[in-house]
Amino acid sequence: MAGNRTFTMIKPDAVRNGHIGAILAQMNAGGFRIVAMKYTKLSAEKAGEFYAVHKERPFYGELVEFMSSGPIVAAILEKDNAVADFRTLIGATNPAEAAEGTIRAKYATSIGENAVHGADSDENAMIEGNFHFAGTEMF
Ligand code: RTP
Ligand code: MG
Repeated sequence: MAGNRTFTMIKPDAVRNGHIGAILAQMNAGGFRIVAMKYTKLSAEKAGEFYAVHKERPFYGELVEFMSSGPIVAAILEKDNAVADFRTLIGATNPAEAAEGTIRAKYATSIGENAVHGADSDENAMIEGNFHFAGTEMF
């Protein structure tokens, strides 16, 4: 039976630092199947729209600047319990607090530049996946 879906981005820091391959391997080893994937770059406007929920937060400007600073890998992933299991796989927002072996513990450099994004609910996973992909790009 098909599992449910989450949405992720490999952020510009991890791309710059050469970690795309290792991060994708860890996602696959964690049991996630790739439904959709692209190598792309967000404009500042698109990054601002994506993270609009954080508009009032003090780090919003920095976040938008960082997320539009270089290419990213965007992907929809499938697994049973995808959203929660993926957030376990990536670890806490702050890499200093991320559990050992998690993607952020291994590849993030700071709380702002933390290597990967993971959707925080089934509803947001669907909204974020549809933000980046057309239905014809999901398999
Ligand atoms: P994400 O949405 O990227 O998966 O991260 P998250 O759920 O673990 O964290 P969230 O609270 O949604 O924050 C979104 C992103 O904003 C940046 N951030 N910077 N400087 C700071 O204090 C700070 N706090 C958050 C991070 O890039 C975080 O992933
Ligand atoms: Mg979040």
